[in-house]
Amino acid sequence: MKPKVLLTAVVPDPVLAKIEEVATVEMWENETPIPRQELLERVQDVEGVYCFLTDRIDREVVNRAPRLRVVSTMAVGYDHIDVEECTSRGIVVGHTPGVLTETTADLAFALLLATARRVVEAANFVKAGQWQRWEASLFLGQDVHGATLGIVGFGRIGQAVARRAQGFDMRILVSHSTTLPAEVQRAAAIRQVDFETLLEEADVVSLHVPLTPSTRHLLSSPEFRRMKPTAILINTARGPVVDTHALYDALHEKQIAAAGLDVTDPEPLPPQHPLLTLPNCVIVPHIGSASLATRRRMAMMAADNLVAGLLGQCPPHCVNPEAMTVREKITRHMSS
Ligand code: DGY
Repeated sequence: MKPKVLLTAVVPDPVLAKIEEVATVEMWENETPIPRQELLERVQDVEGVYCFLTDRIDREVVNRAPRLRVVSTMAVGYDHIDVEECTSRGIVVGHTPGVLTETTADLAFALLLATARRVVEAANFVKAGQWQRWEASLFLGQDVHGATLGIVGFGRIGQAVARRAQGFDMRILVSHSTTLPAEVQRAAAIRQVDFETLLEEADVVSLHVPLTPSTRHLLSSPEFRRMKPTAILINTARGPVVDTHALYDALHEKQIAAAGLDVTDPEPLPPQHPLLTLPNCVIVPHIGSASLATRRRMAMMAADNLVAGLLGQCPPHCVNPEAMTVREKITRHMSS
């Protein structure tokens, strides 16, 4: 008998077909994310879960799913999954690195250009019928070319943003958790500095770190105070990397000039959220990887991970390969 899997949202037909080759599928077909209670009920007899970053796969979920062997998320970030808990139960976790790097870097740059050149404010002005004449001081923004870009986190996406910044003749500073070899810095035309120096010198600070306990609220009031009053913050990483209240104050009090956000905390932002009242804050709804081609690749990669896990193999893009050893021990113990 084929193992049963839960898909917490609709996936493209070829992706579904791939999964159905090896599994019986239960799919949440509503447009809204699967409610918590439904998730808890539906995982009870499944061996695999194909999920999204809106689904919290925590200890409670894992406890409800005694047969679970693989969790595959259609995202590169896996902060919505309790990986430690999964590992201790021998559940492998798959994610989708690489395929969304360039698309996400494109969006980070789109936000950078939009905020520096006040594109959204200016477009709204025209749409509101307020454009009367050419004016020398209308929507004055900041030059992107020649500006200093501070990249926080020099993983795949941070590096892709740096490549784009080179084309704009930007000076590039990087802060990263480990020391980058001199040849890497030379090849990427970057200079590694400490986080504080980056905050003080950058005209644009762009965040590219995963959400972990040590990056939660990496930017809060003290960090905003270090930044230039003309500085722009770009966040395409995760909302809680920035302290939202401190960001609101910094933007409102003009401690920094602007922010471009693809991610927020909370997410989604409720319609009355104070951040939405600020003209110097451009917010888009977590669309960093949202090109048709990239989302298709992510969906298929997540299916490949799920299928491998169901077949007892380590998923090609596995967050916790050590779970395989735990699984073997559990299997040996059960058959002895
Ligand atoms: C991810 O994959 O982690 C992005 O945030 C959503 O595509």
